[in-house]
Amino acid sequence: MQRIAIYPGSFDPVTNGHIDIAKRGLKLFDRIIIAILLNPGKNALFTVEERLEMLNESMSGIDHIEFDTFDGLLVDYAQKRNANAVLRGMRAVSDFEYEFQLALMNRKLNREVETVFLMTGLRWIFTSSSIIKEAARFGGDVSDMVPPGVNHRIKTKFGF
Ligand code: PNS
Repeated sequence: MQRIAIYPGSFDPVTNGHIDIAKRGLKLFDRIIIAILLNPGKNALFTVEERLEMLNESMSGIDHIEFDTFDGLLVDYAQKRNANAVLRGMRAVSDFEYEFQLALMNRKLNREVETVFLMTGLRWIFTSSSIIKEAARFGGDVSDMVPPGVNHRIKTKFGF
């Protein structure tokens, strides 16, 4: 039986921290499905299509990773894709409460789906899509936090 994990998120945009988690996740799982939540309510910088393109460009050379979108409950999507795990990265203490709630709710909804956390690499501990967008909006250099193609797209988006 293949060990398949869903790595869900907004990926608006994908960061080096996400890529690090996905690569390390491949040591634990045979296949990882990176899945973008279709969330019209959330004000995203990039469209879902753009986010998928950036994921593809950034991780095209990595085997056993695929990209998809989902809506509705994560555990339902996981079941549909025959995945019995959800992979999430954990940064500082600030992530813990939200991740804990999410993992417990998912476990309540479906006990067959386990959540696996990987601690973010120390290099990426302060890297988040939100903080990157905040800095880049005002011309801040984020080139060491995202893949080159993503950096280019962010600059274009903000007119730099
Ligand atoms: O990158 P994010 O925004 O932190 O990812 C959050 C995500 C997509 C993992 C989470 O919002 C999610 O799984 N949403 C789908 C709905 C769901 O199943 N929620 C959990 C139980 S309430």
